[in-house]
Amino acid sequence: MTLKTRLDAKEAVAGVIGLGYVGLPLAVELARRQVRTIGFDVDVRKVSELAAGRSYIPDVPSEHVAEAVNSGMLTPTTDPAALRDADVIDICVPTPLRKTKDPDLSYVVKAVDTTASVLRKGQLVILESTTYPGTTDEVVKPALEANGLKAGVDFYLAFSPERVDPGNPTFQTRNIPKVVGGYDAASTALAKAFYEQVVDTVVPVTSTRAAEMVKLLENTFRAVNIGMVNELALMCHRMGIDVWEVIDAAKTKPFGFMPFYPGPGLGGHCIPIDPFYLSWKAKQFNFEARFIELAGQVNSSMPEYVVNLVGEALNEHRKALNGSRVHVLGIAYKRDIDDVRESPALDVIELLMRRGATVTYSDPYVPEVDHGHHQLKGIAIQDAVAAGTDCAVIITDHKAFDYPSIVASFPLVVDTRNALKGIKSDKIFAL
Ligand SMILES: NC(=O)c1ccc[n+]([C@@H]2O[C@H](COP(=O)([O-])OP(=O)(O)OC[C@H]3O[C@@H](n4cnc5c(N)ncnc54)[C@H](O)[C@@H]3O)[C@@H](O)[C@H]2O)c1
Repeated sequence: MTLKTRLDAKEAVAGVIGLGYVGLPLAVELARRQVRTIGFDVDVRKVSELAAGRSYIPDVPSEHVAEAVNSGMLTPTTDPAALRDADVIDICVPTPLRKTKDPDLSYVVKAVDTTASVLRKGQLVILESTTYPGTTDEVVKPALEANGLKAGVDFYLAFSPERVDPGNPTFQTRNIPKVVGGYDAASTALAKAFYEQVVDTVVPVTSTRAAEMVKLLENTFRAVNIGMVNELALMCHRMGIDVWEVIDAAKTKPFGFMPFYPGPGLGGHCIPIDPFYLSWKAKQFNFEARFIELAGQVNSSMPEYVVNLVGEALNEHRKALNGSRVHVLGIAYKRDIDDVRESPALDVIELLMRRGATVTYSDPYVPEVDHGHHQLKGIAIQDAVAAGTDCAVIITDHKAFDYPSIVASFPLVVDTRNALKGIKSDKIFAL
């Protein structure tokens, strides 16, 4: 039976490599749509959690995991040989940056080597990890072909960027349109048929490179616009203009404007990283991606700016950063999630400590954080108040925080997210 026939008959088995923020929602959704799915991860702890019916990703309810595992539709495993049964192998592993801001494809290379070890005729391999244009063709394809099978002849190959937005209650796997670009037309068509089992709208493009570039356009668009609005915030501060009021008014324009908001810096596994995958690749074509570099400079300077703002606030009370107690509210990289990867809060904490402040934090989603040379445990807000905190700084505007009470309890509050909108107090220092 061909892969197309198996997909049409809902008999094709899916293999998902990497069960994190991207891979787990996909694997569980496939299983819930009656697609038999093998979930492979190298993390023994994650696989045993799943086998026990427990989720570690807030957007994926444990009941869904339990249902998928107990029905036999989802098999979590650390055994790569289990992937031999898969008709489609979908790779969702991390793509971080090295310290030098060069792409670190080591996870992709390992996952592709695993795939190559089980590759057989008729299989479809899809890469979902965000990466520079050319990766599927230049890195994935040769590694898969190492054992003699040929892409487009013996197996199918495609790239499909992931667009998951952790913590978004409206848009999840099913209703986020999925872009696919195959190595050839047959690969594109099969990848489309595969995702149509779980996603309402699949958008084909003509190549893996175009699909890779789509994701980088989306994330570069965000990084550059956030950089622009961060610069505007610094300008407004100098000019004594409330940037938040300006954005709120500008967004009443019903066309040609989309609001972006300033903040303490970029966080997460995507926006601070992905554009540098693109600028790195562009350099190989002797092309300098100036918008990306500039936005990167502005965005990465924001934590320093926030620390200066804390210093300005303390100065009003004739205090220095050195020796003051500063309490950070929210350390996840965005509202209502538990992910601290690349979170600007970590930079702010580091910079505050370097300037001699004693730093504590509260985050309802992150009980403790291991941040390189510092291990911190979150404390209750009232304990920070009781300890005599000199200044609180809102880095992540979780909905669970009681903002009026925060303003009432701390002597000074620096607000980097406009979380205190509508509250009037001369204790507040807004970005
Ligand atoms: N998190 C997001 O919001 C998001 C959104 C869109 C795209 N992406 C992209 O998706 C990709 C995955 O990101 P994520 O957030 O899911 O990462 P993650 O760290 O949450 O999950 C990755 C998983 O892969 C596993 N893994 C690593 N190497 C492996 C290997 N060789 N074999 C099997 N498993 C392996 C890890 O143990 C981990 O469980 C990245 O390229 C990222 O840029 C992420």
